[in-house]
Amino acid sequence: MSRLKYIVELKEYYGSDLKRINHALKVLNYADRIAYGEHIADEKTKKVIYISAILHDIGIKKAEEKYGSSSGKYQEIEGPPIAREIMLKNNEDEDIIDRVAYIIGGHHTASKNDGIDFQIIWESDLLVNIEEDELYEDKENVANIIEKNFKTHTGKMIANDMFLS
Ligand SMILES: [Fe+2]
Repeated sequence: MSRLKYIVELKEYYGSDLKRINHALKVLNYADRIAYGEHIADEKTKKVIYISAILHDIGIKKAEEKYGSSSGKYQEIEGPPIAREIMLKNNEDEDIIDRVAYIIGGHHTASKNDGIDFQIIWESDLLVNIEEDELYEDKENVANIIEKNFKTHTGKMIANDMFLS
């Protein structure tokens, strides 16, 4: 099952909400670059990374409808069941489904970050959020965020290059 299927699913789910779709595609782009730079070769890990990148914020819509809030906490509750359904439809293996659901269910919680796949999503989402929230205007703050959150060589390089040079 290719990543295109998931992009199509994402577009179907978000409809005209181009902001959400673009956000996910930007995260996917960074996730690809970091995974490549970090020499991620295992096919399952690669798959977990791209599905997680595409679907990581899939819970936002339901969180907004249900709780009137897009806060990370609610997204983490609402995202995994929706992602599971999409992956089941695409006949993914159970271990992939479980891992992606775990990452989506924790992608705003640093203490749940327990592996390179999770870390790559963490860094990619942050790169996009720094840009979208215009956090780069405060260089000292951005330097702190990078220092605290980025662990991969490739992620650090991209972040420094984009926001600090
Ligand atoms: Fe995100």
